[in-house]
Amino acid sequence: PEQENVVSTGTLPEVERVHALIETAHERYRGLDDGKVADYIPSLGEADPALFGISVCGVGGQTTSVGDSTHPFSIQSISKVFVFALVCHELGHSEVSRRVGVNNTGLPFNSVMALELSDGDPRNPLVNAGAITTTSLAPGSTAAEKWDFVQRGLSRFAGRRLELDEKVYASESATNQRNMAIARLLQSYGRMHVDPIQATDVYTRQCSLLVTAEDLAVMAATLANGGVNPITREKVIDASVCRDTLAVMATSGLYEFSGDWLFEVGIPAKSGVSGGIVTVAPGKGGLGTFSPRLDPAGNSVRGQRAARFLSHSLGLDIF
Ligand code: DON
Repeated sequence: PEQENVVSTGTLPEVERVHALIETAHERYRGLDDGKVADYIPSLGEADPALFGISVCGVGGQTTSVGDSTHPFSIQSISKVFVFALVCHELGHSEVSRRVGVNNTGLPFNSVMALELSDGDPRNPLVNAGAITTTSLAPGSTAAEKWDFVQRGLSRFAGRRLELDEKVYASESATNQRNMAIARLLQSYGRMHVDPIQATDVYTRQCSLLVTAEDLAVMAATLANGGVNPITREKVIDASVCRDTLAVMATSGLYEFSGDWLFEVGIPAKSGVSGGIVTVAPGKGGLGTFSPRLDPAGNSVRGQRAARFLSHSLGLDIF
């Protein structure tokens, strides 16, 4: 049956049980070959569609993985969540809500029309307009300082220094005219207070940071754990900022399919076009999945199925 028994408890089951369930999920869904690898960023099109990794990290730091969980890939839109958290930590709840917005646009992540319809209000930090705005608000007076803030901050979530995939960065930089147009449009509406092309460049870099499914699990577990990385024990952001970040993920983490996701999986998550998904079970732990075939909105097909199965079988649903 598709629907597993929901056994909701205050904690994750013990690690052996978690491992057995992620093995089952991997076994069940690795043969799915619906969906397509993203190729609008040329170097992403080179990804092996067979790759599939799953990793879980509990708030106590217990981790377990299966499949291609150490295969590196560019983080892409998943970075938006963590940059939002870091910037929210610096600027505060009200300021990010005012300057970026926290509503779902109901339109694709790179929609220009969404920005036009809202008179230049980016509306949401997880679509490109809002993510570029959020990145532009990072502390620092130069693009280099903002990039340093972003790279160091995301690395603290992961508990290790994250490096740039130079090839993906070059490939996306050569083809991101649409994002530059969005940044220019934001500027025309008086919403961009730094150089829009430099803001887009820092955003493109953040999307090109290399992670693995295991990193995503630790990053997700940091959000599940009130902002404290369960492996390094470092406090990355305040608990109240975690809460704000999870609220935004719940409404918009899977774009136009965010409602379907919440209905089926019942916990906050964020996807990226390279095939990663971070899923956060507040107070329990984080799930990181990686598999490059995507649905039409840009969400990993196998990752969504695995997360749904695990949310039910591990009792993670918050509703
Ligand atoms: O800006 C872009 O198009 C990419 N760097 C990121 C897009 C992305 O991951 C959207 N996610 N589903």
